Amino acid sequence: MATAEQIKSLLRSHFDNDSERFLTISMQVAAHEARQGHSALAEEIKGLVEKNKFSRTRVITLHPDLSDLILQAGPETKLPELIVNDSIKTRIARLLKEYRQKSKIQLFGLENRRKLLISGPPGTGKTLTASIIAGELHLPLYTILVDKLITKYMGETAAKLRQIFEVIARQKGVYLFDEFDAIGAERGRDNEVGEMRRVLNAFLQFIEHDKSESFIIAATNNPGILDKALFRRFDDVLYYKLPEKEQVVQLIKNRLGTFKGALQPESVADTIRALSHSDICQACDDAIKDAILEGKTKVTKEMLLNMLKDRFDVYRQ
Ligand SMILES: Nc1ncnc2c1ncn2[C@@H]1O[C@H](COP(=O)(O)OP(=O)(O)O)[C@@H](O)[C@H]1O
Ligand SMILES: [Mg+2]
Repeated sequence: MATAEQIKSLLRSHFDNDSERFLTISMQVAAHEARQGHSALAEEIKGLVEKNKFSRTRVITLHPDLSDLILQAGPETKLPELIVNDSIKTRIARLLKEYRQKSKIQLFGLENRRKLLISGPPGTGKTLTASIIAGELHLPLYTILVDKLITKYMGETAAKLRQIFEVIARQKGVYLFDEFDAIGAERGRDNEVGEMRRVLNAFLQFIEHDKSESFIIAATNNPGILDKALFRRFDDVLYYKLPEKEQVVQLIKNRLGTFKGALQPESVADTIRALSHSDICQACDDAIKDAILEGKTKVTKEMLLNMLKDRFDVYRQ
């Protein structure tokens, strides 16, 4: 049996909404049971913790009104799989380092970076980055459906945003405001006056006043329409771009894996123009499927070029 101390700690962490601590104590209970020779029970507890680590629905239970506005997704991909230039890599590493060692920074009255804006064309890894940051920090990832917030809740958007920021303060996690342009559209544009202006002002204030331990990420495909006032509220802004040759080569190598065979990604990369990371990954997947269906274990240069051309042609229709 778990000790009385462990049970009390479990209860305390539950009522404090400290899910990380709750999971840690559960694992301690499992270890305790294992030491007592109760290995089946220990395994069962470990299994429960693993299964529920990233599928908790606390946001929904905290705020039933927000269940259609916040999606929870399991963070999965690992940092080395994110192919970005060195400057972005360094800045992500710095965000992670500051977050992991925030107590050191806070001792000196400073705050760790935890409000991030990512801008860049579709398919360059903005959503993937949020998922990786969540994975690296062992935090759940919550995605706020901004377009729905604007369209479905027109008139009460600011009130909904307030509720969302209350959840952010209460439940530690990575919160992604995806396709953020919908709120961020520059104040004062003719068609954005009124409601949109109010919503944006509310959002700016919520971001500014947020003192939570959560990590807030806003992603946009359209930086041009974003108000510069908004950029100042973030601790860092990352500009994603279509991949350069070096990154294309890396993406193809990673994605083809054992199917690469003798294919030289460099020879293919030269022919690639105006394709996103996502397009290249999909072309690689398509080529692998082709190989499988033809009973082959390798992708040829020709197969990959065909798939890349297909992707490229889509944009010229
Ligand atoms: N920078 C990247 N490095 C590695 N894979 C990427 C990258 N960007 C996109 N991908 C691939 O494309 C998919 C879609 O990318 P996503 O993050 O949704 O793009 P965005 O949010 O910028 O539109 C990812 O899940 C991943 O498989
Ligand atoms: Mg995205």
